[in-house]
Amino acid sequence: MKATITVNVDQPVGTISRHIYGHFAEHLGRCIYEGIWVGEDSPIPNTRGIRNDVLEALRGLRIPVLRWPGGCFADEYHWKDGVGPREQRKRMVNTHWGGVVENNHFGTHEFLDLCELLGAEPYICGNVGSGTVQEMQEWVEYMTFDGESPMANWRRENGREKPWKLKYFGVGNENWGCGGNMRPEYYADEYRRYQTYVRNYGENRLYKIAGGANVDDYHWTETLMHEAGTYMDGLSLHNYTVPGGFEVKRPALGFDEAEWFETMQLALHMDELITRHSAIMDQYDPKKRVGLIIDEWGNWFQVEPGTNPGFLYQQNSMRDALVAGLHFHIFHRHCDRVHMANIAQTVNVLQAMILTEGEKMLLTPTYHVFEMFKVHQDAAALALYLEADEYHLGEESIPQVSGSASKRADGTIDISLCNVDPHHEAAVTLRLRGLAGVKKVTGRVLAHADMNAHNTFEQPETVEPQAFNGVTDVSEGGLSATLPPMSVVVLTLA
Ligand code: AHR
Repeated sequence: MKATITVNVDQPVGTISRHIYGHFAEHLGRCIYEGIWVGEDSPIPNTRGIRNDVLEALRGLRIPVLRWPGGCFADEYHWKDGVGPREQRKRMVNTHWGGVVENNHFGTHEFLDLCELLGAEPYICGNVGSGTVQEMQEWVEYMTFDGESPMANWRRENGREKPWKLKYFGVGNENWGCGGNMRPEYYADEYRRYQTYVRNYGENRLYKIAGGANVDDYHWTETLMHEAGTYMDGLSLHNYTVPGGFEVKRPALGFDEAEWFETMQLALHMDELITRHSAIMDQYDPKKRVGLIIDEWGNWFQVEPGTNPGFLYQQNSMRDALVAGLHFHIFHRHCDRVHMANIAQTVNVLQAMILTEGEKMLLTPTYHVFEMFKVHQDAAALALYLEADEYHLGEESIPQVSGSASKRADGTIDISLCNVDPHHEAAVTLRLRGLAGVKKVTGRVLAHADMNAHNTFEQPETVEPQAFNGVTDVSEGGLSATLPPMSVVVLTLA
């Protein structure tokens, strides 16, 4: 099986925003509590309550932006319950996610501290579904106002003298569903009203994100752009990869080739979704000022046996690695419109980077793809033409290889490749047009002979990147490489 790829090194076609490598951490299951926040008194080593092992691992990903506090939780969250002395904070029920008690110990200060520790920009999602305009207005004032005001003074009393820098603000989440079951016509008006009071204080400039469509709800995008396009900087889109569909859902492990194939097909569907939503946005915004913000994406499987169904805790295998790689290639191709994407979710929930159990922690195959692909962050996307043989299963087929190329500011070129075929290697011929010869090629590969391969607390290194030794030929105009079955490869050309 083979693929031929031509990269026009002298033809940048856009910039791959680092924000495409964004994250999402919700008050859901063990994402925030246990996964990130253990509290200052925990025996687990921590920095002001945030666990050090997770912090260090996440720093390795250079997370550019982190979305919080939800998700569905955002439209039930009342931020004032989560500031001030922790022992006096209100306890609430997390009705969406397992009906557990939320003690509000992780609130605005803790989240913004986490972002500072990670070097990530915060992306806060405000409450439209059950919150008020005043509440949203005051939250922004609390976080970003430097002068004398009730909210800014309260922030100072709570220990933070200077305002935080906040750019990304979401006006509601999934307002077609858990965020209020609104019609797009109604939400568009609500969006216009709420965003009016989401103010820029001093030098702080907000980038306002409207709650967007579910999957292929093109009417939602059309209505929002028509009614409120000029009032927004970004419009979101949510699409999960759910083999079997939400009614059925399949296990994260123990799957067969049919499920592997279906998952890859579903992941590739993201391309059509972006193309069609973008085409609608183009009609109202031909200069592409408004970003398509894919602030929830990833695999959604059955929860691990014996775990709380409301906690969405699932394992992560080679299949997840390929799904992440395919998504990034699609996002890169659409980098003119896709300004941000946030995988769901960072720790212990859905397609996570990290799983924890007490003081133990492991890195998932998805983590490794994020780490390998971080070289693309803020790099120039290069024009790439790909012809690949098809991977067939029964009557259906998908391209065996997908790829993407980018150029860093210092001229280094990175090429990422995925081989989704579980049985066959892919012999890739890479033609590099516009490059004065390749001096040195290095590479890393994430691969395993078993599609169900995953990391466990007992064997955390089953799936890990290795040095890639599949480059078979390097010539003036390019190179040849052999990709193992089920692999993700990143080549770096100096
Ligand atoms: O990520 C889990 C949930 O999926 C989010 O809370 C919600 O926005 C979406 O339906």
